Amino acid sequence: MIVCIADVLSAEQVAEVRELLAKGSYIDGKQTAGWHARLVKENSQLAAGDVATRASTIVHNALMESAVFQAAVRPRHLRGMLFSRYSGGQTYGSHVDDALMRTGSGTMRSDVSMTVFLSDPENYTGGELVIEGPGGEQTYKLDAGSVITYPSTTLHHVAPVTSGTREVAVSWAQSFVRAPEHREILFDLDTARRSLFQREGKSAEFDQLSKSHANLLRMWAET
Ligand code: NI
Repeated sequence: MIVCIADVLSAEQVAEVRELLAKGSYIDGKQTAGWHARLVKENSQLAAGDVATRASTIVHNALMESAVFQAAVRPRHLRGMLFSRYSGGQTYGSHVDDALMRTGSGTMRSDVSMTVFLSDPENYTGGELVIEGPGGEQTYKLDAGSVITYPSTTLHHVAPVTSGTREVAVSWAQSFVRAPEHREILFDLDTARRSLFQREGKSAEFDQLSKSHANLLRMWAET
């Protein structure tokens, strides 16, 4: 399941993060890629340090406060954000994300990958996130402040940025619900019961849907 969520960051938060990024120092993105992804990764990455920590906290908190993000991802662990910058034809060729990732306190499994767009799409050419699947390629270039979440199991790439600069924050989540098809069922049920609640309040049907949603989550969640 691929979910795009608009305005996870407000315009003010995007501006705040971009101001921080302008002050940061950048390293070659190959330093944070696995051994085979390194062969196709051409970008710059914000160096670890105070600026990166502050920017990461803003994006991290905004994601965790989004009800749609919570319902789509069910994050158990959310890795600190990596801030990437692409310009002058830079690209990230086809790759799959590492399955296991080090965190500050141990190792997590990547179930869901995400990209938070920080640049206005009119200000750069190219730079689409392309998710490859058996049915073909799906292309995403979202407004600043929006996030796309997609299964970490996919091959994907970033099209070359032929003019302007593309700034994004990327991260990975280990989900309480490991199987993508289970996450999708829970997401659909949650969306349906919320819309039912909007229409008719806490009805008997809403309660039954809520019960099924909670019991499926209980059945499938890893803690
Ligand atoms: Ni990737």
